[in-house]
Amino acid sequence: MIKRPNSPEEWDLYFNLRYEVLRAPWNQPRGTERNEGDETAEHFAFIEEDEIIGVGRLDFTPNHGSQIRFMAVDNRYQGRGIGRQLMEHMEGIARNKGCKETILHAREIALPFYEKLGYSITEKSHLLFGEIQHFLMTKHYEQLS
Ligand SMILES: CC(C)(COP(=O)(O)OP(=O)(O)OC[C@H]1O[C@@H](n2cnc3c(N)ncnc32)[C@H](O)[C@@H]1OP(=O)(O)O)[C@@H](O)C(=O)NCCC(=O)NCCS
Repeated sequence: MIKRPNSPEEWDLYFNLRYEVLRAPWNQPRGTERNEGDETAEHFAFIEEDEIIGVGRLDFTPNHGSQIRFMAVDNRYQGRGIGRQLMEHMEGIARNKGCKETILHAREIALPFYEKLGYSITEKSHLLFGEIQHFLMTKHYEQLS
């Protein structure tokens, strides 16, 4: 089930999964898994048996744009379609709000995942922690006439 985190326990699990998947393997301190945009963004958690095993954040940007950030699936559950479901859920919300496109900064290792979902590389972007190359990717939506 995909839902917005709600209770204090769910928020703890939500940020903890971000930390464990996206920060801990690079020995980054707790707190680095959050940023100021968390207050205005929309957050989504994939929950199974009271455990949060996938997370993603959706930001709305100017001119009918949107951006997906902090996508992470628990290592033990990767490759089972959870990331795809989270992405499609967030894209559906963006499209319903009239967004024309979604962008994201993908880690090099995740490029095939996003390409399968219809994203194309726009340009090479930043290097995180001095070693993780990112690529700006874009998916344009067909406009309803
Ligand atoms: C990248 C990530 C979010 C993908 O989520 P996931 O649940 O493992 O992916 P899914 O099982 O939904 O995969 C969807 C499709 O992409 C493919 N795919 C996923 N990761 C892939 C990879 N690294 N290489 C090639 N194909 C991949 C799957 O085979 C699947 O294809 P199918 O639909 O034809 O069967 C997840 O693996 C993850 O959290 N990785 C570590 C953190 C990370 O890199 N996050 C992204 C930061 S930009």
